[in-house]
Amino acid sequence: MEKQHDHSMLCRRLGDKDPLHTLMRSVSGIPATKNTGTKPYWAEGHYQLQRSSIYNSMSEIQKNEVVLRLNRWSLELIYFIEKFGLNYGARMIELAESEEEKSLYSLFAGDEVRHRLMIEPFLLGEHPQNLNLHPLLSALNLCLQQGSKESMTFTIQVILEGFGLMHYSQLRDSCLNPELALVFNDIIKDEVGHHGMGVVLTKKSGNLAAQNEQIIHLTHNFVRSLIEADWVTKSLEITAGHLSHEQKVNLKQETFWHKSQSLKIEKMSQLISKTGNQDLCEKLHSLGSFDIKA
Ligand SMILES: [Fe+2]
Ligand SMILES: [Fe+2]
Repeated sequence: MEKQHDHSMLCRRLGDKDPLHTLMRSVSGIPATKNTGTKPYWAEGHYQLQRSSIYNSMSEIQKNEVVLRLNRWSLELIYFIEKFGLNYGARMIELAESEEEKSLYSLFAGDEVRHRLMIEPFLLGEHPQNLNLHPLLSALNLCLQQGSKESMTFTIQVILEGFGLMHYSQLRDSCLNPELALVFNDIIKDEVGHHGMGVVLTKKSGNLAAQNEQIIHLTHNFVRSLIEADWVTKSLEITAGHLSHEQKVNLKQETFWHKSQSLKIEKMSQLISKTGNQDLCEKLHSLGSFDIKA
């Protein structure tokens, strides 16, 4: 019977006590030493929380809880994205059409393993299992299951890894933990290469037009998932209780939510335009992919 490959993000994890896990760590040369610092990695300012009246009315203990929860989610999302990177690399090794392409994706997958192993010691809490953490994760899983080679190269490497560079740079620049900031620096260097490789492969394939429908569909899902995730409101609600519609609108105004969403959209449009795919940009606009609602 043919063995099924599991390239999904649920790919089984054997755990710290398994000899394969120990071997993976030792071969990678990245120790599993847990970060023991007690300070948050990102302070309230990273999330613009200091501008929120609801946040400012909370006790110091509650404020700390809201910030630490956001820190924990940020790292868990990165953990899953890096895990996705490995599974994506594995799928692309299978689909590669030349020795060079296969080699490049093998190196790519190796980078993503190192990224995940470097992030793991900084996780706050148990190993993440919850794929409902962020809507981006189900969009990524769907892409991995259904995407053609060309549409994945474009949406994952050109758009998402390009966008990820901005996201990781922001996380590095406001990180209060110097060791974690260094980890982001290392990751960013590799991600520049992954994005560049996607641009070269996309230009070389010349087959993008045939994949346009799928590319529009996948890109729309990604853009919407990035706009719709609203962790700040969610974390405040867990600590403070339900917020009314008016309070949520007010919170978004106070924390410049629209401005940060506009920046995301601008970055995405730039990345798409960079590949000369103006048609895609226009289609996404007409689909309402870039709409921001309060
Ligand atoms: Fe990565
Ligand atoms: Fe990457």
